[in-house]
Amino acid sequence: MRRLIVSGAIALAAFTAGAGAIALAAGTEVSLPKRQWHFQGPFGTYDRAAAQRGYQVYAEVCAACHSLSLLAYRNLMELGLTDTQVKGLIKDIVVPDLNDDGQPIERPARLSDRFRKPFPNELAAAAANNGKAPPDLSVIVKAREGGADYIYALLTGYVPFDKLTPAQIKEFSVSKDDNFNTYFPGHKIAMAPPLADDKVTYADGTKATLGQQSSDVAEFLAWASEPWMEDRKRTGVRVILFLLALAGLMYAVKRQVWSDKH
Ligand code: HEC
Repeated sequence: MRRLIVSGAIALAAFTAGAGAIALAAGTEVSLPKRQWHFQGPFGTYDRAAAQRGYQVYAEVCAACHSLSLLAYRNLMELGLTDTQVKGLIKDIVVPDLNDDGQPIERPARLSDRFRKPFPNELAAAAANNGKAPPDLSVIVKAREGGADYIYALLTGYVPFDKLTPAQIKEFSVSKDDNFNTYFPGHKIAMAPPLADDKVTYADGTKATLGQQSSDVAEFLAWASEPWMEDRKRTGVRVILFLLALAGLMYAVKRQVWSDKH
């Protein structure tokens, strides 16, 4: 019995510690500013309104360069949108397809289509972006140390050339044409600052500051990287509750079975 309680306690401890471990893993050259995210912790969920705004930022800004190839448009319904709303969002998007004669055509996107890729292939993507292809953003929040904190820091971490110290310019051999980012490893990044205040106009009236757009798109990309996170956490909580109930039951059984020996 004691062992059962102990293993239950270990499972519980591991479960609560797991949520904090991601935050601890951030250990790039410069320490990332920690932000509060709605999806943190064992009961965390995605902030639907923020993620919907984040989709708007992705669609109006990032989609010009970055694919999001693991998502289909219908997945946006998981952010609390109806199919009519999603159809409205994608009404101007066209995707490549083949006609009945096998000739390449473009047609309006359907809910079942994967997100449209901005470039036909990696080489074309690199050629259009000074030799560096913009990475697919489907799992970028999982792929980078620091996750959503990193995305936020990256998008807000650009320093204009005239704000750099001579020491920084020398150490990282930055020229006027380079983009200097505090949080990008090596600091010189092929992506020019994609966001600025009021780059988008939010449908829900939220003020579109640089910070707001960055945190919204990070929330959206966090969801894209792990859309089933809420289910996973819910299952975890259920399993723990079940184990606790089972532990109680086993203890009761043990007391019953051994009652005449005491
Ligand atoms: C004009 C094209 C362009 C736009 C628009 C753009 N990016 Fe990028 N992005 C790039 C390129 C090119 C790279 C590769 C940079 C490198 O490796 O030096 C990149 C890299 C990135 C990375 C990876 C950084 C890393 O650690 O490797 C992230 C994350 C990212 N972009 C997010 C975004 C988001 C979010 C938006 C929209 C708000 C956006 N980008 C808009 C071109 C773009």
